[in-house]
Amino acid sequence: MLGYAFMGKAHANAFKKIGYMTWPPPLEPKLVGIAGRNVEAVEEAARRYGFEYSTQDWRDLVADDSIGLFDNGGPNALHAEPTIAAAEAGKHVVCEKPLGRDADESYEIWQRVAATGVKHLCAFNYRFVPAVRLAREMVDAGELGDVRHFRGRYLQDWGDDPSLDTWRFDPDAAGSGALGDLMTHVVDLARFLNGEIDSVTGFAHTFIPGRRVDDAVEATAQFANGSVGTLEATRFAHGRRNAFQWEINGTKGSLAFDMERLNELQVFRADGDRARGFKTVLVSETSHPFWEHWWPPGHIIGWGDTFMHELHHVLRAIAEDREIAPYGATFEDGYRASEVCDAIVRSGENGAREPITYR
Ligand SMILES: NC(=O)c1ccc[n+]([C@@H]2O[C@H](COP(=O)([O-])OP(=O)(O)OC[C@H]3O[C@@H](n4cnc5c(N)ncnc54)[C@H](O)[C@@H]3O)[C@@H](O)[C@H]2O)c1
Repeated sequence: MLGYAFMGKAHANAFKKIGYMTWPPPLEPKLVGIAGRNVEAVEEAARRYGFEYSTQDWRDLVADDSIGLFDNGGPNALHAEPTIAAAEAGKHVVCEKPLGRDADESYEIWQRVAATGVKHLCAFNYRFVPAVRLAREMVDAGELGDVRHFRGRYLQDWGDDPSLDTWRFDPDAAGSGALGDLMTHVVDLARFLNGEIDSVTGFAHTFIPGRRVDDAVEATAQFANGSVGTLEATRFAHGRRNAFQWEINGTKGSLAFDMERLNELQVFRADGDRARGFKTVLVSETSHPFWEHWWPPGHIIGWGDTFMHELHHVLRAIAEDREIAPYGATFEDGYRASEVCDAIVRSGENGAREPITYR
């Protein structure tokens, strides 16, 4: 594992839980090595999470033949080189989103890693929310009819403070602001639930004078299936702490979701019911593909559990030589999200609608 802070904690927690909550696990995770810059902090992280050793140099992990899966939870600038090196050393790879800092870097990571033949997952963990997976299965089954709208917005509010100093505001380390951080998630779920995007208009905006990355991004999208939509990402929506919300409207019904109500899916069926309205579905039935690991129906789960579903998916793909796609995001999906995000920025710069073309 590379990185031991926010995502390091989320992923380490998930690997540990997989070992006993999913039974039998497809592979029993063994936490071998963890890399970080600060010697005391990374030693402490190894002790805390139960890694056998810590190192200040991720190359030690790449050189360790006993490691079969490399999990990159480092800042965006540290995604490309270690992830490619790990794959070229024959290790399966998980890399946090955004895959690269822009479409060029993401494309390079995808191409170089895909050429090695290892399994690769770009950690768009929101695909692994039970309600999101149920929505995908309902869309695939045609339960919404023809989709007319996809509306996605990822709203946070921690960015409105000029004194904040993190790698997330450094263009070299992060590549972009809300764009790579939040809009990539919106684009990935838009593609996951509603298919490819044909063209976008949009722009990125920075509120804080002197800040060198964007604070908010607004876009409109035309989808290949004929539907239209809006995509938004911001760190300035006061009161919205982690509100990843989306809604799909089709000819036969609608679905709506809010990450702050993670266990619930809002379902409307246009079936002429005179008690017309959205119903709130608590997504916790034992028939759900993620629920075999959990509790009796109605005994809800949390945000951190999406990482357990995600990494379980990776381990099963490795153990049974299954594909990461379509339910997991591959590095190709990571690249495609970056391509759409770059097009939104270009549209803002040139004032034109930008077609999406994938390399
Ligand atoms: N999927 C999600 O929901 C989600 C949520 C948050 C972050 N992320 C992504 O995860 C990645 C990490 O974000 P985070 O929130 O965990 O950041 P963080 O700042 O909490 O942690 C970054 C970690 O990388 C380490 N690090 C930084 N520079 C390093 C270097 N040069 N060498 C070695 N280690 C270094 C830091 O010590 C720290 O342990 C980012 O790409 C981010 O976009 C994804």
